[in-house]
Amino acid sequence: MIEYPFENIVAPLLAWYDEEKRSLPWRDNPTPYCVWVSEIMLQQTRVEAVKEYFIRFIDALPDVKALATCEEEKLLKLWEGLGYYNRVRNMQKCAQELLVRFNGEFPKRKEELQTLSGIGEYTAGAIASIAYGKRVSAVDGNVLRVSARLSENATPIGDNKYKKELSDRLSAVYPSEGQDCANFTQSLFELGALICKPQNPDCTRCPLSSLCKAYQNGTQKQYPVLPQKREKRKEAVYVFLIETEEGFAIRRRESGVLKGMNEFPSHVINAGESVENVLNEWGMYAFTEIKRKKYKHVFTHIVWDITCVWIKADVSPFDCYALDEIEEGISLPTAIKQCMEILT
Ligand code: ADE
Repeated sequence: MIEYPFENIVAPLLAWYDEEKRSLPWRDNPTPYCVWVSEIMLQQTRVEAVKEYFIRFIDALPDVKALATCEEEKLLKLWEGLGYYNRVRNMQKCAQELLVRFNGEFPKRKEELQTLSGIGEYTAGAIASIAYGKRVSAVDGNVLRVSARLSENATPIGDNKYKKELSDRLSAVYPSEGQDCANFTQSLFELGALICKPQNPDCTRCPLSSLCKAYQNGTQKQYPVLPQKREKRKEAVYVFLIETEEGFAIRRRESGVLKGMNEFPSHVINAGESVENVLNEWGMYAFTEIKRKKYKHVFTHIVWDITCVWIKADVSPFDCYALDEIEEGISLPTAIKQCMEILT
């Protein structure tokens, strides 16, 4: 049971937000579509980095229909560098569902929003409250941190039962339907981002310090309690920049992490396997190695130790593309794209 009088934070937080909120591109015109796009992007990337992606995405795909009918490669190119590419694929699926089931409009109720692809409790809460002014919370990492400190709650972040209870408790104290609901949701994000920061909370500027148990007891650093970290699996990977007269070899990944994405042909190295072995497996026997370089890339559950190998060959078993074609029209995940540095 969470025992904390959340009703007391509403008025001071709304007043603070009114004064201190940042001007952000998705706040100019918070349509359900814009709120949705921004929230999906913000689930994985910092606000500063999202700004540009958001503007470009909305410019290219201004509404549900444009997204639903967008060619996959163009979509992935707009998302290139953001990672978690299944999210944007699910967004397209969701846009298609919206056209078929809801005439292209986002439904207003949180429960109905959650029936759409890729929309979970958090995103549904964000759309319903920010775009439609409904009395429902959206609990993300910021909100969990702020709440854990306010109430000195030691439940580890990631406990879904706690998250659901917090979400219900917060929803119950939302102001009356309309703009204040939209603002209350965002004020919690904003407080977490600007004041109640993970490392150095700026408690002297906090509008809730007199209501914060952690501040009163000097325990801010002990909250939130983080879950135990799981060790990431390590993979040693060769990434081959195979250069022919036509350009560089590109193929689609058929399995593993980044399944379905374009890549410079790569291979997870088994014990004792050499560059030559791998290329021979692909039917390549005549090639010249130009350069090698090592990289690291950290995914959610895996770490890649990458050896990038640039080779020249007369023929490639994979389709080849000129560098400008790759830059302009082919989406490459960051783990793979970083290897292009070797060419400069
Ligand atoms: N973090 C998550 N959602 C956000 C939003 N709408 N504005 C700012 N930061 C956020």
